[in-house]
Amino acid sequence: MLAGDPNKPILGTRVRPIKCASMSKNQLDTKSQAWSALFSEPMSELVKRYTASVFFDKRLWQADITGSLAHADMLQAQGIIGQDDHASIQKGMAQIWAEIESGQFDWKLDLEDVHLNIEARLTQLVGDAGKRLHTGRSRNDQVATDVRLWLRGEMDLIIDLLEDLQTSLVEVAEKNIDVIMPGFTHLQVAQPVSFAHHLLAYVEMFARDAERLHDARRRTNRLPLGSAALAGTTYPLDRERVARTLGMVDAHGQPQVCQNSLDGVSDRDFAIEFTAAAALCMVHISRMSEELILWMSQNFSFIKIADRFTTGSSIMPQKKNPDVPELARGKTGRVVGHLMGLITLMKGQPLAYNKDNQEDKEPLFDTVDTLKDTLRIFSEMVGGQFNPATGVKEGGITVNAQAMEDAAKKGYATATDLADYLVKKGLPFRDAHETVAHAVKAATSHNCDLSELPLNVLQGFHASIEKDVYDCLSLHGSLHARNTLGGTAPAQVRSQIERHHKRLA
Ligand code: ARG
Repeated sequence: MLAGDPNKPILGTRVRPIKCASMSKNQLDTKSQAWSALFSEPMSELVKRYTASVFFDKRLWQADITGSLAHADMLQAQGIIGQDDHASIQKGMAQIWAEIESGQFDWKLDLEDVHLNIEARLTQLVGDAGKRLHTGRSRNDQVATDVRLWLRGEMDLIIDLLEDLQTSLVEVAEKNIDVIMPGFTHLQVAQPVSFAHHLLAYVEMFARDAERLHDARRRTNRLPLGSAALAGTTYPLDRERVARTLGMVDAHGQPQVCQNSLDGVSDRDFAIEFTAAAALCMVHISRMSEELILWMSQNFSFIKIADRFTTGSSIMPQKKNPDVPELARGKTGRVVGHLMGLITLMKGQPLAYNKDNQEDKEPLFDTVDTLKDTLRIFSEMVGGQFNPATGVKEGGITVNAQAMEDAAKKGYATATDLADYLVKKGLPFRDAHETVAHAVKAATSHNCDLSELPLNVLQGFHASIEKDVYDCLSLHGSLHARNTLGGTAPAQVRSQIERHHKRLA
């Protein structure tokens, strides 16, 4: 906005000056904000709306109540609050839980965020006990705890969804081990590969995505609570007890507690790590989307995806568009954007907590939602949906094996096999490579495949060529010949499928 007259119209709209309601002493007293006594005027409506987060962070309510209950339990165990207060807090929180769950809870913008909304309602319900809950705690360590608890749960769901998607891919792979398609480099036909092998490449990517999430989960599952505002607290808190109550423990059951209060309240690296892993996962989805889109175009016709994942055109009656994979490819940009947003959010912040961190939530929430929906849809789009009537999954991708094989026959996909054949006859690889290039040139000019050149023509390129050359020039021969660990030979693919089944069981 240009400096100067605030009433000056900008792009046809009038910028109205911000109105501040005048405030009486009484209003100040009844004001629900947690810091009111010091303030001589209330926030304007615009500033309230600008600084409030309740309309998005209310989503953290379960984590917030769970964290508060663990804190209250410890306060009581440490003799910081009495048993009666503890019991009142538990009772009040149970009611608030039910109110929120049933949609009865009255969320108030005036109360800024999820934490103050729940605390105010607790105090309304149980009086002073509610006011004691915040002893030895700040919203700074509270929010950091809530986000970690919430994200931990979401990570577990996403890891499960990644397993479902891998299972779908493995199931389709299992049915297509002997289906031959052209493998590409530079999107030019390179060598024949098994369609199953191609699908299993994505299984590897999604397995690593799950591994990354498992790893990031370890660092997410640590307790900031007890850091208080920034410097720790004067109360004799038992942070390890809280960590244990909240399941923030390592593989050996040892409590995991943030060891520096300044760091505990302020860093959001766990959220950034998660979003980086999510962005990478979406990039894998996006690569797969691009292939699905290509494969279902008329020029490939390798696969069909079920109609419920496609849409028609409002003008071209013949069209079925792959909207789902296209959108997934598009949404990848959105998640990568969230990663950029979060990492940039962190970069200029001095220790310790700054309000900037409130901006971590929307990108994080949207990343989780986008990734979960995408993984769910892809599992079903690829592998189909379980039909209890038939006892099998139905409606996954349909494979056109003939179209794949026909495509593999174009583009001299077995040229490397001919070179390897000559190497076995004693030629150095570079010479064999050159010899085959001449053969390909000849086949191109005859408009035929290498396997269609007569033996005497092939022998013209090298005298060592014999009749058995045709075995290695066939797609089938080429495929079966790549029988090294990780190769596309059906025997290798079968053993990979077995490994995945065991791993995913
Ligand atoms: N809504 C805030 C957030 O999301 C909670 C912490 C506020 N702390 C504060 N000192 N203003 O970060």
